[in-house]
Amino acid sequence: MAVGVAAEVKSKLSVLEIVGEQVELRKAGTTYKGLCPFHGEKTPSFVVTPARDSWHCFGCGEGGDIFSFVMRREGLSFPEALKRLAARAGIEVDERTSREDARKARLREVLEQAIAFYHVVLTQSKTGAPALEYLHGRGFTDETIERFQLGWAPGGWDQMIKMLQSRRNVAVAELAEVGLTSQRQGGRGAYDKFRSRVIFPIRDAAGNAVGIGGRILPGAAGKVAGDGAAAGTVAPDSNAPKYLNSPATSLFDKSRTLYLIERARGEMRRSEEAVLVEGYTDALMAHQAGFENVVASLGTALTPAQVALIARYAREIVLAYDVDPAGQHAGSIGGAELFRLIGSLAAEETGVEITRVRVARLPEGKDPDEVIRETPDLWREAIRTAQPIIEFLIDYYATAFNVRTAEGRRHAVDALLPLLRQVSPVVRDDYLQVLARRTGVEYRFLLEALHAPVPISQAGVDGRGGSSGAAGAGSGRFTADAVMSAPDTIDTKAELRSLTREEARLLRLLLLVPEQQERVADTLAAQGARLPSTPARELLAAMVADRDLDREAGGPGDFKRTRFLEALPPEVHSLAIALSDRGPNDPTTLDTDHVRNGVDQCLLALEADRLEDEIRFNAGELMDAQTAVDPQTIARLLETQRNLYEARNSLDRRREAVSNLTPAGGHR
Ligand code: UTP
Ligand code: MN
Repeated sequence: MAVGVAAEVKSKLSVLEIVGEQVELRKAGTTYKGLCPFHGEKTPSFVVTPARDSWHCFGCGEGGDIFSFVMRREGLSFPEALKRLAARAGIEVDERTSREDARKARLREVLEQAIAFYHVVLTQSKTGAPALEYLHGRGFTDETIERFQLGWAPGGWDQMIKMLQSRRNVAVAELAEVGLTSQRQGGRGAYDKFRSRVIFPIRDAAGNAVGIGGRILPGAAGKVAGDGAAAGTVAPDSNAPKYLNSPATSLFDKSRTLYLIERARGEMRRSEEAVLVEGYTDALMAHQAGFENVVASLGTALTPAQVALIARYAREIVLAYDVDPAGQHAGSIGGAELFRLIGSLAAEETGVEITRVRVARLPEGKDPDEVIRETPDLWREAIRTAQPIIEFLIDYYATAFNVRTAEGRRHAVDALLPLLRQVSPVVRDDYLQVLARRTGVEYRFLLEALHAPVPISQAGVDGRGGSSGAAGAGSGRFTADAVMSAPDTIDTKAELRSLTREEARLLRLLLLVPEQQERVADTLAAQGARLPSTPARELLAAMVADRDLDREAGGPGDFKRTRFLEALPPEVHSLAIALSDRGPNDPTTLDTDHVRNGVDQCLLALEADRLEDEIRFNAGELMDAQTAVDPQTIARLLETQRNLYEARNSLDRRREAVSNLTPAGGHR
């Protein structure tokens, strides 16, 4: 991708033109208004602001730039949207991309060859007969086996390699590149990674093969040779995992992939709902039974990237996981994991509203595949009556802690408030009421605690109202200007023009001083906000993903710049490099408080921008209502205006406080 292509595209295409093709827009002051294409509405709350190259819907909260509009509208990824808009702007996509495309196309073909091989072995050879019998026994039909190209990887060491080499002109190196071989230890040569396993091909949303999953047959664990075999020897490994997935390759990143997404996306869009299950067999059985909006995560904890993938097609998510916050039965998702999951769901980049996530209750200890197979009506009902995840958790914590004691109430509320802070203020109130009823803690106290910066158990309150604790502001003797005066050399770089000034400052700080990354992601999520520009969102998402990668590997969630840069898609790579340029005013030379303060300034500036948009939108509404002489609406809008002005005043005060860097000791 050409350097700065996102910026170039943005400068050549107007947001008004791109959005205007899909939405009928009417001028309203300095902005344009229309009916939101992303949610059903009768009065326009969708606003395009040409001055900012942005669009925003005040009804559903969606918003962004031309890229996010096309991504959302057409269900495309950022690179896809960029390509499409680049073509439209007459900008050449550079050679590197086409070369990469060609290489990937070849690798996909290699993978398709392997999948075809496994499928033939399953369906047409004696070797595959036991596996075929197993699949039939689990209720999978021949049609399903055909349609989903299930396969059987034969035992032995290199049957697949040999076959593809001799008959299909595939090089071992290519098979290695798509993750289908293992390297012999010490010695040279490779052997089949997948042996004696049922094969489930995994595809991306466009239907391209990206990897495979393989399941051993029951009772076969002890007979499967492990991957850790020493040179030349065949060491049986009774610890062979039930499922083995392709390793990460240039085609396959399981944290961004969902099993059967290529089949489910159509129905997800039609039904506006996605059902998420844990296992391959669960998703497969659902599709066989005609429940086609079902996808499976691939054995890892659900990642923000996976949620973002779902969010491209559906706004409602039903989790048909084995959820059990107490973690009593094996294989279930415990409370901590559920919170992590909610974190992923609500992460800044996913675009999912936590209130649209529900939890289905299935009969104890039953996997979806059994329920669907035995009692499809029960499944349908379980999905229909799935409980909003927050209600589910309120119920859970109210039961888990004894809310008859002050201690229990405190714990329950402490556990739930962080969650409620992530919920949009519009619906938060309902949940506060539910929480008040379930815990017996007064509503007005909950409201106060919600806005307190510290856990209530430290704020000296006991369910009868009380003071919110002092926010511990850091000590500081610095002027913030040193951090915030972004060097002009950076602003002149073409890449940065695809970002707003505040975004560029913020991302630069985050790239050079990674400690603040998660706080920023969390803060934005808590505000129900996203960064305005798509490339900025992509970068922040990649930072979070990099930390998740570290956690998945058992690490503490560290950020590794080199790993991050390597994994970045080419579209934003040069942007990240430009932002990481140390230049003058290198933030790495500053101390934590100082950097933190700089980050806060950026966040507040972004918040101020959003507030200005809201004020402008409300002013437009007010004008309309005055023209229509609608006193009731006028009154309501005036009230909103007062609130917005008040919010602006208090935001101004906060910005002032931050730029003055108040001394330690907190403020009251
Ligand atoms: P389960 O162990 O619940 O398997 O793992 P399952 O889907 O119910 O499989 P069946 O019904 O016994 O055939 C759920 C998912 O976790 C991942 C797989 O994606 C699996 O579908 N998994 C499980 C692994 O990746 N590796 C494992 O060793 C086990
Ligand atoms: Mn199962």
